[in-house]
Amino acid sequence: MSGTVDSYGVVGHPVAHSLSPFIHAMFARQTGQSLSYRLYDFAPEALEERVAAFFAQGGRGLNITLPYKIAALAFANELTSRARHAGAVNTLARTKDGTILGDNTDGAGLIQDLCTNQRVTVTGRRILIIGAGGAARGVLAPLLALAPEVIIIANRTADRAKALAAAFAPLGNLQGVGFRYIAGGPYDLIINATSASLTGEIPDVPVAIIGPGTFCYDMAYGKGDTPFVRWCMELGCRAAVPGWGMLVEQAAESFRLWRGVRPLTGPVLSALTAS
Ligand code: ATR
Repeated sequence: MSGTVDSYGVVGHPVAHSLSPFIHAMFARQTGQSLSYRLYDFAPEALEERVAAFFAQGGRGLNITLPYKIAALAFANELTSRARHAGAVNTLARTKDGTILGDNTDGAGLIQDLCTNQRVTVTGRRILIIGAGGAARGVLAPLLALAPEVIIIANRTADRAKALAAAFAPLGNLQGVGFRYIAGGPYDLIINATSASLTGEIPDVPVAIIGPGTFCYDMAYGKGDTPFVRWCMELGCRAAVPGWGMLVEQAAESFRLWRGVRPLTGPVLSALTAS
């Protein structure tokens, strides 16, 4: 990692499928920054040592993806408040004095895509989040900061939803329920934060959650529409989109943390969804 080019990368296991090298290479070209960005597939038993070695050899920053976002909390000397709220780190940055800063840009990425790209209003609206794992946890604080009327967290395992709602209760009005007890539809905004799309499934939620004014967001993405996006469209929602924008926006936030400049995301999003 010697030489003049600053080193970055993404750590996961597996990680070969990651689109981050493509995204960050486009950001670097667009902003005229000289850097390298590589894939690092570290096995669990070697994770801590390999991450430490990356920074010891001059590496400047890492993205952290599945399954290491929680483990990465321990690799930071300092956490941003959004990483603390999320209980997970997706970005590590080595600062000038050698501190390893742990950040989480997922929530900011979702908000940027929802509010700026998709022009969705959160303030004063009724929001349903499906899922109560790390993906849901990561977006709660930034959503609550926009003062929605209420956030209902619905999860297949009701207890996880209740525990998550209780953990964030000081930040706003929210409730945790099991799928059968989701009341008061249709919602203004529904966010699918489950991993159900990864196996081609749709969460077993009541159809009454969706109406003609409902905006539906699937954090998952893939070739074409996700099963959840298709299901929402079939039920006549206002619009339904997969999470390509969140992917690119969280990357742009990481890039800004590392390089001090926020790249334009539109061209990267177009390139990804066209290919
Ligand atoms: P992540 O960090 O991606 O959120 P996770 O912590 O494993 O991953 O959480 C996965 C989420 O997807 C959970 O809310 C899980 O529900 P359970 O807590 O009941 O397991 C949800 N999930 C996964 N597959 C699902 C399916 N087929 N239907 C509904 N929910 C599903």
